[in-house]
Amino acid sequence: MKTPNKSNKNKEVNDFINKRTLSVAPMLDWTDRHYRYMARVITRNAWLYTEMINANAIIHGNSDKLLAYHPQEQPIALQLGGSDPAALAQAAKIAAGYAYNEINLNCGCPSPRVQQGAFGACLMREVALVAQCLNAMQEAVSIPVTIKHRIGLDKETAYQPLADFVGTLREQTACRVFIVHARNAWLEGLSPKDNRDIPPLRYDYVYRLKQEFPDLEIILNGGVTTNEQISQHLQYVDGVMVGREAYHNPMLMRSWDAEFYGSRQPAVEYDALVEQLINYTQQQLAEPDNSLRHMARHYLGLMHGLQGARQWRRMLSDATLLKNNDAGLIATAWQAVTNSSISQSVSI
Ligand SMILES: Cc1cc2nc3c(=O)[nH]c(=O)nc-3n(C[C@H](O)[C@H](O)[C@H](O)COP(=O)(O)O)c2cc1C
Repeated sequence: MKTPNKSNKNKEVNDFINKRTLSVAPMLDWTDRHYRYMARVITRNAWLYTEMINANAIIHGNSDKLLAYHPQEQPIALQLGGSDPAALAQAAKIAAGYAYNEINLNCGCPSPRVQQGAFGACLMREVALVAQCLNAMQEAVSIPVTIKHRIGLDKETAYQPLADFVGTLREQTACRVFIVHARNAWLEGLSPKDNRDIPPLRYDYVYRLKQEFPDLEIILNGGVTTNEQISQHLQYVDGVMVGREAYHNPMLMRSWDAEFYGSRQPAVEYDALVEQLINYTQQQLAEPDNSLRHMARHYLGLMHGLQGARQWRRMLSDATLLKNNDAGLIATAWQAVTNSSISQSVSI
């Protein structure tokens, strides 16, 4: 586990880590360290983002529990939630001690709870405060401080307010990486889930940002489900961030290193991946507070598209089987997949 690093090697790490051509989105309750470990076995190069963590939770809570991660997870970005520049700076400083490669500020979450705390998407109405937050964070750490935001709020559909938001931050802060979820956040009347589906996607707005601010690193997010779509978007922007599809169908990431990072390493094979997950799960189960259920839930989508995917999911979500906390269940579920594939003559 990555624990605080007193000699702070973050700068060195950042000198040779990859571009953000591809990244896995921050997703509360989903992109925890167990999911991220699995994603890292599948892609060596894509950036991984933590779930959003409230700055005050880091300052007042158990920072090891919130921030420690497997060293293999790098490049990894921590996403912070908050709107108090001093608190965000303090949390960023604590996080930098864990050798994160980037700190990201959430300006895209529309949930009522987050709005009550006056952060997330509603910060898009307060660009001066966002600038203060980013500057305070950047003063506290030497790693890049970045932002993730929407293309607008509520029923505002014009491009210019978005360009003004980005342009102001470009002028007033050192932030050079903008991750743009290409749909508005509707702050009233829609659940967070609906806010990821109902406001229309406007990829053209994100492309236009890159055209008008060529010196900024513009990362497009929202609704991307195939590698063909990724290739299309990369003609217009610097990077693509994938959320739900990378969670529900993690093997989507299997070709990313070769296709988008020019890696010559062969893509991970299913059996090698399963073996690594069994070893990892076994190690984790030896630590207090970890349960098989917590880890296995992230593995459910791994066999997506294969014969036997249903048996895999069924076994790894069976409460009675999971209760034994035996990582051998993963091997048994994998056996069911291979048996099923053999009987269907499908090569995996
Ligand atoms: C379960 C879930 C939790 C999410 N939590 C966060 C979060 O903590 N921070 C954030 O910026 N976005 C969060 N998002 C939004 C995603 O980062 C992403 O912007 C959104 O899902 C659109 O990308 P996609 O269409 O590729 O999924 C979450 C999305 C989901 C599905």
